[in-house]
Amino acid sequence: MKCLAVASEIYPLVKTGGLADVVGALPAALAGEDVVVRTLVPGYPAIIARLGEAREVARYDALLGVPATVLAAHVAGHDLLVLDSPALFAREGGIYGDAAGKDWPDNWRRFAALGKVAADLAAAGVEGWRSDIVHAHDWQGAMAMAYMRFGPAAHLPRVLTIHNLAFQGRFGAEIFGWLGLPPESWAMDGIEYYGGVGFLKAGLISADAITTVSPTYAEEIRRPDDGMGLDGLLDGRADRLHGILNGIDTDLWNPEADPMLPAPFAARRLGGRMASRRAVEQAFGLKRDRAPLFIVISRLTWQKGMDLLVEEMDGMVAMGAKLALLGSGDAELEAAFLEAADKHRGRVGAHIGYDEPLSHMMQAGGDAILIPSRFEPCGLTQLYGLRYGCVPVVARVGGLADTVIDANEAAVAAGVATGLHFAPDDAGALRRAMARAVALHGDRPGWITMQRNGMKADFSWGRSAARYAALFADLVKAAG
Ligand code: ADP
Ligand code: GLC
Repeated sequence: MKCLAVASEIYPLVKTGGLADVVGALPAALAGEDVVVRTLVPGYPAIIARLGEAREVARYDALLGVPATVLAAHVAGHDLLVLDSPALFAREGGIYGDAAGKDWPDNWRRFAALGKVAADLAAAGVEGWRSDIVHAHDWQGAMAMAYMRFGPAAHLPRVLTIHNLAFQGRFGAEIFGWLGLPPESWAMDGIEYYGGVGFLKAGLISADAITTVSPTYAEEIRRPDDGMGLDGLLDGRADRLHGILNGIDTDLWNPEADPMLPAPFAARRLGGRMASRRAVEQAFGLKRDRAPLFIVISRLTWQKGMDLLVEEMDGMVAMGAKLALLGSGDAELEAAFLEAADKHRGRVGAHIGYDEPLSHMMQAGGDAILIPSRFEPCGLTQLYGLRYGCVPVVARVGGLADTVIDANEAAVAAGVATGLHFAPDDAGALRRAMARAVALHGDRPGWITMQRNGMKADFSWGRSAARYAALFADLVKAAG
C-alpha cells in the first residue's frame, strides 16, 4: 500500500515537539507493514538547505496566490515531497511564528497551501506514483482532508491524526475566498467553524477516520472538559475515532548504544548511568551527591503544568531532592525557573533552550522525570524515561495514564510498577507525588525494580504500526 503523509514537522529536519518524532518514525515503522510512505512537508529553510539532489514534480504559478514548486528528494532517510514556496516558507524565525513567538499572520495561507498540494498530488500522482490513502497530521495538515473531499481526490480514503487538540488553526471568514474551495464547503459540516474557518475542524469532519495518539485521550476529547469545543463533533464521530498509542524510535533511544551518552548502560547494568548523572550535575551546576535527581524536559507551557512545578520548588528542595530542567516556552515560566535556580543554587538548575543531546543525557542520569501535564495526548518523554531507567512521575491524564503503571500498594506487591501517578492540575498532588518518589528512592532494591520494569516494557512502534496499517487497509478496502 502507498500512503501520502502530510505534516508540518519531521525529525530530524524540523522539530518543535513530539509531532516531529512521530512523523519521523512512522515511515520506517509502517515499512514493516508493507506500507510505503512519502511525506509532504513545507520547504522551510532548514529543509531546503538539506535537499541536495531534488527533482521538480509539480509547479504552480499561483498556489493560493503565490508561486510554488514541489520537489522530490531523499533526505535523512525520508522520502520527502517538499513544498518549495519562498513567499510562504523562506523566512527567519520559527516555523509557526517569528523569533518573539508571535504566529505568522499568513499561517492560514501557508498551511492551506500545504493541504491543497497534498490533495493535488493525491489526485494526479507523483511521476506515476499514486497513493492509496492520505494521512494528515494536526491542524497544519488537516486542510488536505477538506481539499480532497471537495475535489478530484474525493474517492481516496483520508485519515487525520490529532496530536494536540489545543491547536486548531482558526481564522476569519475573510480567508474563505482565497482557499479555492467550492461554496458548498462553507457549511457546518464543512470548513465553517463559529463563523470563521477552522482548519482542524474541517479536517475532523472531512476525514474518513480520525486517530489520536493514545486510547485515553481518544476518550477524553469526547467530553466537554477536554474537547476544547470539538467534543460534540468528536463524540458524534466516535465510531471513526481511534486511539493508537505512539511508539518510540528504539534505535535512536537505546541506552546500550546511544552516542550522546558518556557511557552505555542496560537494565542489568545500571551502573553506567552514573557517568550521565555526573555530567548532568556538572552541566546544571548541581551539587554532587546521592540526593534524588528530578529532571524536566518540556515545553514550558500551561498544558505541561509547569506553573504547578514553579509553585512547588521550595517544597521540593525542602524534601532534599534536586532538579535539572531543560525547556523553553512562556517567558514568565522561563523567568520563574531561572529565579528558582538562582535562589536554590546547587539544588535547582535550569537551561532555557532546546538541546537534543542534553535531553538524552538527562534521561540517562536523572532518577525521575516530572510530567505534571494538565492534558497530554500521548507524551513521549515518559516513554524515553521508561526506556532509560528515569522513573516517570506523571499526572494521570491521556497517554501518561496509559503508559505508566503507578506504584500503588498492589502494583508494588505484584512487582509491576513503573512510575508514579498523581491527580492533574493540583500543585499539592504534585508535591505529594514528589515526596512519594523521594521515599521510594530511599528503598534501593524497590527503586531498581521499578527502573527495570520500565526498561523492559515494550514501547517500540511494532504494535502501533500494525494498527495504523490495519486501519488503512480497512479504509482502502471500503473505498473499493
Ligand atoms: P509535546 O509534543 O507536547 O511537546 P512530547 O512529550 O510528545 O510533548 O514530545 C516532546 C519532544 O520534544 C520529546 O522528544 C522531548 O524530548 C523533546 N523536547 C522538548 N523540549 C525539549 C528541549 N528543551 N530540548 C530537547 N528536547 C526537548
Ligand atoms: C503532541 C502532544 C503530545 C504527543 C505528541 C506526539 O505534541 O502534546 O502529547 O506525544 O503530539 O503525538
